[in-house]
Amino acid sequence: MDFFETINTRKTIRKYKPDMPHMEDIKKIINAARLAPSATNSQNWQFIVIKNKNIMEKMKNSVIDAYDNLLKLYDEPSFSEQINHYKSYSTFFVNAPILIAIVETERTSNITEIMKKLNFEPDKLKYMRPDSSLLSMGAAIENMSLAAHALGYGTCWMAAPLIATEAFSSILQLEKNSHVISLLPLGIPYRDDYQSPQKKSLQEVMRIID
Ligand SMILES: Cc1cc2nc3c(=O)[nH]c(=O)nc-3n(C[C@H](O)[C@H](O)[C@H](O)COP(=O)(O)O)c2cc1C
Repeated sequence: MDFFETINTRKTIRKYKPDMPHMEDIKKIINAARLAPSATNSQNWQFIVIKNKNIMEKMKNSVIDAYDNLLKLYDEPSFSEQINHYKSYSTFFVNAPILIAIVETERTSNITEIMKKLNFEPDKLKYMRPDSSLLSMGAAIENMSLAAHALGYGTCWMAAPLIATEAFSSILQLEKNSHVISLLPLGIPYRDDYQSPQKKSLQEVMRIID
């Protein structure tokens, strides 16, 4: 697929056929992540390819538990409705043939640490020293989404399930300084007529300074 065709036609897919993606394709997709840019080339990521349905079920149940715990703390009808919607928005990964967990290993920046010691306001520091590690994870995830699409697969970048990130660490037996930062279910799209949501026009998002 041509590069711009890949970009123009990629869209989030939330329902997949049960067919197992080929291992050669999965490797190509992870390789696209491996080659992404990362801040100071730290490559502080790992990509766990989960084929095991029991593990996926455990992860799904931990997300539901996390939302239920939240509801116990804030038991209000409209919130409960919202949470029920969020439960399905956060757990459909269990129906994908493959689930990729993107794992970030924590790293610190000297400059940020020094600025914290100098009492720079956290609200300002957030923009002066953005979380470059998190941005790197995003680059890898987008590379994977595009590679998967170019190979005929659908994905959905998922952050909502991270409400259960502590449970994920234990289920996936991660090291202490590593955590799941996103999930990417992967599979052949169940249908081929899913619609893309409306995107802002180029005019709305682009500004030229002459
Ligand atoms: C950082 C990030 C987190 C997301 N988390 C979720 C999620 O937890 N569940 C979900 O169904 N979609 C999630 N999405 C998918 C977005 O809803 C989707 O990208 C957006 O609606 C635009 O649609 P498109 O990807 O088809 O262009 C996430 C996307 C991004 C970039």
